[in-house]
Amino acid sequence: MTNAIIVNNLKFNYGNQQVLQDVSFEVQPGKVVGLIGENGAGKTTLLKILLGLLKTNMKVSILGHRPGMSQSVASMFQGDLKLPGVKVGEILAEVAAQYPNPKAPQTVLKELNLSDLAHHYLNDLSGEQLRRVTFAMTLVSNASLIFLDEPTVGMDVNARQDFWINVDRMKNEGKTILITSHYLEEIQQTADQILILKDGKIEFDGTLNELQKQYLTTQISFETKREGSIFRKLTQVQAIKQTGNKIKISSTNGDATLRDLVPYLEEIQHLNIIDASLENIFQTITRGEKNNAEDD
Ligand SMILES: Nc1ncnc2c1ncn2[C@@H]1O[C@H](COP(=O)(O)OP(=O)(O)OP(=O)(O)O)[C@@H](O)[C@H]1O
Ligand SMILES: [Mg+2]
Repeated sequence: MTNAIIVNNLKFNYGNQQVLQDVSFEVQPGKVVGLIGENGAGKTTLLKILLGLLKTNMKVSILGHRPGMSQSVASMFQGDLKLPGVKVGEILAEVAAQYPNPKAPQTVLKELNLSDLAHHYLNDLSGEQLRRVTFAMTLVSNASLIFLDEPTVGMDVNARQDFWINVDRMKNEGKTILITSHYLEEIQQTADQILILKDGKIEFDGTLNELQKQYLTTQISFETKREGSIFRKLTQVQAIKQTGNKIKISSTNGDATLRDLVPYLEEIQHLNIIDASLENIFQTITRGEKNNAEDD
């Protein structure tokens, strides 16, 4: 089967500002992909290129077509859907009419617990309700490739939960879904593939497991009267920080470093071991903070 998305050596600039320097990745059909990056990294720009809303002459293939040429693509973008005089049911019916194999709007509204909103005007909805309705539009499309740009911004905890349940449901239906987010945590449970966009390039492309293997560090801290420099020779130590008798070690393999620490156990107190969170991993990648222990 051909890949749902193929991007090869993509470059893009707005005037003098080069936003995408060299972006290459592929997405297999049926995968959920998390596209992560800081503010201004170029996530929305990349999505717009994949949708054919921004033109490039670079090689990009979407379901085997040029961007914008496949009928089976739907998207949900940042920004609200404010259309005066249009009701929720009407906009969903319009979406259904545009796609070859849509789902019934009433069914989708029911699934999202939004049936009550069908006769409401879009202009009368809260920001959060609008986000839910925009999401309902992508569900109604029943498209096989779906782009969601920071879909959960402005949603409360319950709405987020509903949202992720529905993403899982779409995944089970075999859809390919690309979701942008600032947060690894949010995306980790559902994403099969994680892409991290930094400085106009894909800094990481792989599974969550691979990401953790590559970037996971363990912070080992304790107090001791010994000179900090002697701990530098322990296996897999990436960085050491000493403040008075407090030592903080950053290790790329916590278990191995701890085994080496055993001979010193009688001379150390208040031993504390913490694995880096996904948040830390994200910061390590996006800000180049390789030596966590030296930084704080
Ligand atoms: N239409 C435009 N004209 C000029 N510059 C733009 C335009 N749209 C975006 N940019 C710039 O391109 C860069 C990437 O923007 P983009 O919106 O793609 O980033 P993003 O990763 O989606 O950010 P965020 O997380 O804030 O949504 C930013 O520096 C932005 O200011
Ligand atoms: Mg954006």
